Amino acid sequence: TVHRHLSTTSQVNKIEKLTVFGAGLMGAGIAQVGAQSGLKVILSDVTDKALENGLNIISKSLSRVAKKKSPDDIEGFTSNILKNIETTTDAAKAVQDSDLVIEAIIESIKVKRDLFGFLDEKAKAECIFASNTSSLSVKEIAESCSNDRQARFAGLHFFNPVPAMKLVEIIKTPQTSTETFEALKEVTLRMNKSPVSCNDTPGFIVNRLLVPYLLEAIRMVERGDATPEDIDTAMELGAGYPMGPFKLLDFVGLDTTSYIAQGWREKAQSGEISKELVEPIGLLDKLVKEGKLGRKSGQGFYEYDNKK
Ligand code: NAI
Repeated sequence: TVHRHLSTTSQVNKIEKLTVFGAGLMGAGIAQVGAQSGLKVILSDVTDKALENGLNIISKSLSRVAKKKSPDDIEGFTSNILKNIETTTDAAKAVQDSDLVIEAIIESIKVKRDLFGFLDEKAKAECIFASNTSSLSVKEIAESCSNDRQARFAGLHFFNPVPAMKLVEIIKTPQTSTETFEALKEVTLRMNKSPVSCNDTPGFIVNRLLVPYLLEAIRMVERGDATPEDIDTAMELGAGYPMGPFKLLDFVGLDTTSYIAQGWREKAQSGEISKELVEPIGLLDKLVKEGKLGRKSGQGFYEYDNKK
């Protein structure tokens, strides 16, 4: 099993208490897998309504898991895991006793830095801080904290939907300590995920390779080289991908992809990523402007019947 690869050389306090900030799509998923792995979880957000939304996402997802794992006692299975999750809007209280904080709030460098700067004063010295950001620099977020905390700071990038996707990218900044990395690896394995390690670079591993590929697929359509349908069929049957690029673009959201490309264009100015990879695309901008964002809006490259 994967546990074989775990280093046993470094001493780390075992993580028992997890605090998740942000009860949206990702935060709810992270709280759920944490609770399923036996951690004591506190889920925190700015409003009671957001917390309620998070608990709803978790309950629905847990019932789906229960249908497979414990079909005779769906209620019991679900409530047994839900009892590991507490909620609060009080950020200071949420971290006072925590071993690990995972932040999954809105993708804004300022809001994330404000939150971590505040939490740095409130959490135990040993508490590890992690951000689920997909497009921001982890180092820049970490710099809102003291030097000691920066050694206990890393990126922990989960994938949507969290309960189903096995991968977690652990992002090390130059300040992240080996002990912190090992503790995060251990806790993600306990969550039944497969961790990989990457430096703090644009897109980390998955998006760094995936986004340029998706953008080039759009350019092919824009040039009239092939249709979205044929490109999807080609990549599914010829490259063995489970989903062609246009199905994936519609699933992720065209606005999200466009937003990531925009951020990278800024990084291309300083040479962190090559300019050609993220050249603006008229067709993508046009679809986003028209509100054709993919599955969630009912239309992207394909049409969807969201009433079903
Ligand atoms: P979301 O919009 O579903 O949820 C964000 C939640 O954060 C909301 O409930 C909001 O009320 C809350 N929030 C905002 N400011 C807060 C604060 N100061 N303190 C506590 N809670 C606060 O967003 P989503 O999609 O869950 O994304 C969260 C993070 O995860 C972002 O950084 C995003 O880039 C990243 N991410 C998203 C993925 C996706 O597929 N949606 C995949 C991987 C990472």
